[in-house]
Amino acid sequence: MKGLLSIIVFLFGGIITAVYIGFGFQTSPETTVVDEELIGLHEKYTLKFSHVVARNTPKGLAAAYFAELVKEKTNGWVEVQIFPNGVLYSAQEEFEALQRGDVHIIAPAFSEVTLHDKKWVAMDLPFLFDNEAMVEQAFNGRVGEILLNSIETKGYKGIAFWDNGFKQLTNNERPIVYPEDIKGLSFRVMPSEALFKTYRTIGARAITFPFNEVYNVLQDGIVDGQENTLSNIYSKGFYKQQKYMTISNHNYLGYVILVDPTLWNTIPEIYQESIQEAMDEVTLWLREHAKELNKEMFLRIAGSGITEIHELSEEEKVQWRKELKRLYEEYELTIGKELMEEIRKLQIDRDN
Ligand code: LMR
Repeated sequence: MKGLLSIIVFLFGGIITAVYIGFGFQTSPETTVVDEELIGLHEKYTLKFSHVVARNTPKGLAAAYFAELVKEKTNGWVEVQIFPNGVLYSAQEEFEALQRGDVHIIAPAFSEVTLHDKKWVAMDLPFLFDNEAMVEQAFNGRVGEILLNSIETKGYKGIAFWDNGFKQLTNNERPIVYPEDIKGLSFRVMPSEALFKTYRTIGARAITFPFNEVYNVLQDGIVDGQENTLSNIYSKGFYKQQKYMTISNHNYLGYVILVDPTLWNTIPEIYQESIQEAMDEVTLWLREHAKELNKEMFLRIAGSGITEIHELSEEEKVQWRKELKRLYEEYELTIGKELMEEIRKLQIDRDN
């Protein structure tokens, strides 16, 4: 009898030990070894990326390429779902959607950011950049750093700057060569006070409408013209409603890629690195291809014969810059001394 009892006790003890080891029950926290690296690694992450432009544009193509690279670099554990053409939200609605966590990545134009951080009006100053090299210097230098630090204080984490290109003017009334040619005309612009002021300074009116309404307001004659890059003017068909286009390069349309910092910090570090790596690769790809894409769209607009095109000469640009130079002084306070100093350093070669 005694022998049987000891066998039962021995078996029972063995089962208990097996259950504890097998199911990893915590006997006490300090004895449990957690492999931080593995936390969250075996969950799939879906990041919703919303933007407002057509697929065949610099931002549209870059977003699709980014989604591809993220899938590849995370072996499918992170999926980026693209929602182009403003199908989910307009440019301004995207900011609230990002903060609500309804989308996880947005790529607003700098002008859209100005409603959330006034310092960004710096990027809307007229004739800020002369060429892509200056743009790259700004994005990769102190100007970019100041802007990203500033937007972070407003609750958004910027992880990259994306290029589109220089903005051009179109209108339905007359050829525009000199600032006086624009007097009395109305133009659709993005919601940036620096843009409104630019047009007011030279006797024109600037009105804002969401990007997806621009074609209709041009068609219905609610505004005489608009400003945008060649890729947007072509991909949205604006040129079909505009008799005249001026290649002015008066502003640069760039984007900042924003994520919600709270969400970003929940993604396992190993995936964050892959996402940032993908973002850096796409940013470089876009820098090399945005200019060609806009040139391609220019050829298609010119080839259509619908729009009469005038390209501003350097002398004509000097007239525009002279008329608009005062905006730099007017915005010094809003932009801040340091950022204005950095901008002046960028432009130093131009004015000498
Ligand atoms: C606009 O004019 O609203 C567009 O430039 C927006 C964009 O993202 O390109």
